[in-house]
Amino acid sequence: MRGEVIAANWKMNMDVCSAWQYLERLKKAWKPSSQRVVIFPPFTLLWLVGMGLQGTGVELGAQDVFWEATGSFTGEVSPLMIKEIGCNWVIVGHSERRNILLETDQMVAKKARAAVDNGLTPIICVGESWEEKQSGLGEAKLRHQVNAALSGFSAHEVDKLVIAYEPIWAIGTGRAAAPEDAAWAASLIRGTASDLWGDRAAARLRVLYGGSVKPATAGDFGARPELDGMLVGGASLNPHDFAGVISGWAERRRFPTLQAGGLG
Ligand code: PGA
Repeated sequence: MRGEVIAANWKMNMDVCSAWQYLERLKKAWKPSSQRVVIFPPFTLLWLVGMGLQGTGVELGAQDVFWEATGSFTGEVSPLMIKEIGCNWVIVGHSERRNILLETDQMVAKKARAAVDNGLTPIICVGESWEEKQSGLGEAKLRHQVNAALSGFSAHEVDKLVIAYEPIWAIGTGRAAAPEDAAWAASLIRGTASDLWGDRAAARLRVLYGGSVKPATAGDFGARPELDGMLVGGASLNPHDFAGVISGWAERRRFPTLQAGGLG
């Protein structure tokens, strides 16, 4: 059975005051759900948000991680530090880091490996640009990114990994992928994992969708059994909207047999 994850990626937003107010409002808007809900604040707010989330069941994650445990790496944050502050999750390979900070597939793979080795679940982001999609190169790009990120893992580690399909053209644009296209991408991602590990393990791989998810559209993604959750940016910055995304997803989620049986 694949568990579901709804993740809030705050990116480089919020401060001490607004984060605290957010948590107070989220707790009021919050209805417990069977999905695992994770908030990814900036590093500077991890301690505060971790404190504010105590007893809520909402989990904490970091937006990035370095691959070494300690040492002379000015500005970097190690998986041990992230774990110590209360995180169980980390985002790696977000397209903003790949494109703006020139993170390579090799760096993303090293970060994912270091995360798992230190008890963190990485949400590994993959996705094609608009130009790649238009020129028919999107599929090859996805396969390449997934293969690079997963080839350092073995089949028995699949439950420790999550992939987020985030088409670059959908991030922050208000133009989400069609749910059937996101579902197709999830199947492609599992197909790539299957080439590495076989069908049984690949069927266990959790795949999220991210890119302009809103409360009104979350249910359309929730209705797709190929998807196991969402990575939410802009709509996660408002606690009311984020709660709406979670409930929107949950309302359309009715696949007990598929969930239990696993999908290929
Ligand atoms: P968005 O961002 O929801 O604002 O499009 C998603 C993401 O970048 O993870």
